[in-house]
Amino acid sequence: MVELDRLKLELKNLNTEYAKIREIAPEKRAEFGRKINAQKQDILERIKMAEQAMLDVEVEPLDITAPCAPNEELPQVYSVFDGSRHPLMTELDRVVEIYQLMGFDVVESRQLDDEYHMFDSLNFAKEHPARDGYDTFRTEEDLIPPAHTSTMQHRVLKANRKKLEQGKEIAVVVPGRVFRNEDVDATHEHTFYQCEGVYVSRDCNMGQMLGILREFFEKYYGQKLEIRTQPGYFPFTEPSLEFLIEKPKTLGGKKGDFLEMLGCGMIHPNVLKMAGIDPKEYHGFAWGGGIDRLVMLKYGLDDVRYFESGNLNFLKEFK
Ligand code: DAH
Repeated sequence: MVELDRLKLELKNLNTEYAKIREIAPEKRAEFGRKINAQKQDILERIKMAEQAMLDVEVEPLDITAPCAPNEELPQVYSVFDGSRHPLMTELDRVVEIYQLMGFDVVESRQLDDEYHMFDSLNFAKEHPARDGYDTFRTEEDLIPPAHTSTMQHRVLKANRKKLEQGKEIAVVVPGRVFRNEDVDATHEHTFYQCEGVYVSRDCNMGQMLGILREFFEKYYGQKLEIRTQPGYFPFTEPSLEFLIEKPKTLGGKKGDFLEMLGCGMIHPNVLKMAGIDPKEYHGFAWGGGIDRLVMLKYGLDDVRYFESGNLNFLKEFK
């Protein structure tokens, strides 16, 4: 038993002992009481010390990189040697690789960000209801686990604006983990992945953006695709579009079965301005879309919750 528990039990027994005072001859009660009280003080003192000692215990740092031996007692399925990469990570690599082959640099997003990068720098007006559309989590310190990878746009633009002056373009993709305070169901997760694209040059246009997106989706699914756009709304693009692809026949799609894959548009002049880029001289386009959805379509998955489930049978199918 832990020392503290033992002492508490001792104290309880002592109280039982004290109750016996009624059975003792009246002239001996005072001495009996004093003896029990002294013991009680002693135990209370030791409880205090034991509690303090527990607070003082130094927790040994856990070295999660240390090698560990396979544990014979665990069922085979949990063996440390049985692990494999998470399918989303494998697919995210594939996504990034396709963009890299087109000449895009890669910057990773962060898992904790702030109000400025989540909203202000993206031209969301203060108190604008569009802020509510992102179901953001907040920490007690008012930091924000990003609800989209667009949080990185301002940083990417600012860090690369010198390139524009040197006559080069900005071409960056940002893969990252994002979080939303949503009710989880087959098509919604609180934690998922997105990939953002940002492109700025003197004379880029929407046609080029659609060309890049078509190229990406055709490479990823390994076939020619029908694409379509429809009007959208994002405070950080003007005009804004939603980009759809026709669900490939090989993946169970029928003619006219279009799926929305991402949001995109021409970067709003205010967003460029806030990053120190003159919107009269330079233009940009940007897009961002979910990786989970992309992968679900590729593998015919009907429930996004598999990804975060830790279900080993599911994960093993992707080894
Ligand atoms: N961040 C948006 C979302 O998560 C998607 C998006 C739309 C990203 C337009 C962009 C963009 O970069 O230009 O809903």
